[in-house]
Amino acid sequence: MSERVTVIEVGPRDGLQNESATVPAGDKVRFVEALAEAGLPVVEVTSFVSPKAVPQLADADQVLPAVRRLEGVRYPVLVPNVRGFERALAAGADAVAVFTAASEGFTRANINMTIAESLQAFAPVLERALVAGMWTRGYVSTAFGCPYDGAVQPAAVARVAGELAALGCAEVSVGDTIGVGRPEQVPEIVAAVADRLPLEQVALHLHDTGGRALENVAAGLEAGVRVFDSSAAGLGGCPFAPGAPGNVATEALVRFLHEQGFETGVDAEAVERAGQAVRARLAG
Ligand code: HMG
Ligand code: MG
Repeated sequence: MSERVTVIEVGPRDGLQNESATVPAGDKVRFVEALAEAGLPVVEVTSFVSPKAVPQLADADQVLPAVRRLEGVRYPVLVPNVRGFERALAAGADAVAVFTAASEGFTRANINMTIAESLQAFAPVLERALVAGMWTRGYVSTAFGCPYDGAVQPAAVARVAGELAALGCAEVSVGDTIGVGRPEQVPEIVAAVADRLPLEQVALHLHDTGGRALENVAAGLEAGVRVFDSSAAGLGGCPFAPGAPGNVATEALVRFLHEQGFETGVDAEAVERAGQAVRARLAG
C-alpha cells in the first residue's frame, strides 16, 4: 500500500479572503461541499475575524451552518480571539485554527498584536475549543520570510510552533505566506520545528507566488512532512504582491503527490471543476 499524504483544502478561506470580488454565501457553501465530496479530508470553511479586516468572509455566520457535512471530514474555521471563537461555536464549528507568525512586523499588520500577545489571546480560545471537543490547528506565518521584517530564522519559527503545540494545537501549519520560500530552506525549518513537536503534527502551507511551491512540497516530503495545505484552482493571491498566484493549487498538488506514489484519496478533476466554478463566479 502506498503512503498517505493529507491534503488540507484552504481555498474557501485563504483563497476567497484574497480575491477582490466577494462570492455569494450560497456559492461558498456549494464550493465547500464540492471539495469535501472530492475526497478532501479537511476543508477550511471561513474566518470569524473582524469584517472590517476581511469583508470577503463577513458572512461566516451564515456560511458555516449552511454547509451539509460529510462524515469523517473536518471543517475548521479561523479564529483570532475569544469573540471569534464564540461566533464559531454558535455557528456549529467542529474545528478551529488560530493564527500568528514568526515575525513581529507581519503579526502587527495582520492581527494588530505582538506574537506574545497573540499567544495570550489564543490560550483561552484553545482551552475552550478543547473542552468543546474541537480539533485545533495553529498557523505560523512568514516562516520563510516576512514582507516587513525580511529574513526569518528557523529558530523563531520553531519557538512559535512549539508554543502553539504547548497551548493545545493538534497540528501546526508552517506558512510561506508570501511565497518566497526556496527548497533549500525547507529541511532546516522542518528540522527546527520537529525539535519542538512531533513531525506528524506539522503541516506546510505554501503559497506559490514565486512559482516554487511544488519544489518546496517535494523538499517537505523529503524532510518527512505528510500534511500540506492547498487551494482549489490556486485561488487567492498575496495582498503584498497583487496579481500573484495564491496557495499551491490543490489539483496540481494532488497530481504531483500521486505521481510521486503517494495516496491522497482526492479526485483532482473534481477539485479542479469546483475551483473553476468559483473562478467563473469571481469573474462575474
Ligand atoms: P483590532 O482592531 O486590533 O481589535 O483587530 P479590536 O478588538 O479593536 O477590533 C476591531 C473591530 O473588530 C471592532 O469593531 C471589534 O468589535 C471587531 P468596531 O468596534 O470597530 O466596530 N472584532 C470582531 N468582529 C467580528 N469577529 C471577531 C472580532 N474581533 C474584533 N472575531 C483583529 C484585531 C484580530 C480582530 C483583526 O486584526 C482581525 O480580525 N484580523 C484578521 C486578519 C485576517 O483574517 N488575516 C488573514 C488570515 S491570516 C493568513 O491568511 C495567513 C495564513 O493563510 C497562513 C499563511 O499563509 O502563512 C493563515
Ligand atoms: Mg495563507
